[in-house]
Amino acid sequence: QPGEWAYSDKLKEHFMNPKNILQGENTDDFDGVGMEGNLQCGDQMMVVIKVDKEKETITDCQWKTYGCASAIASTSVLSEMVKGRTLDAAFHISPKEVALELGGLPDHKIHCSVLGDKALRSAINNYYTRNGQEEKVKQEQV
Ligand code: FES
Ligand code: FES
Repeated sequence: QPGEWAYSDKLKEHFMNPKNILQGENTDDFDGVGMEGNLQCGDQMMVVIKVDKEKETITDCQWKTYGCASAIASTSVLSEMVKGRTLDAAFHISPKEVALELGGLPDHKIHCSVLGDKALRSAINNYYTRNGQEEKVKQEQV
């Protein structure tokens, strides 16, 4: 419809008020750091996590990006979704779940939502590497 946004209210809300933005450059307090670039648009994303080492659950997830509105909203919602999840469960979150949680994303914007989820997986693998565990591999969907 002309004059109507293709974005859900929830997406707009997360874009206007993104949650868990990483402030500053210092990532020393975090247990895993992940950085990804998007080949399609050249944008970059950093995701950092804190981990409860006993339970292997994510206790905090912060991020920052030079990506677009969809990347911002998707990663904002993702950073909320992963808190309290095990590393393994967080590793397997799919871009589809994130898009669903956001109330849908235009198809040509799915690649933007993938950015946060890839950077999250790098952060989780960074945690595994630092802790002498093997990295995981995920088949890319989408
Ligand atoms: Fe431009 Fe994602 S590549 S919107
Ligand atoms: Fe680059 Fe969306 S256009 S992340």
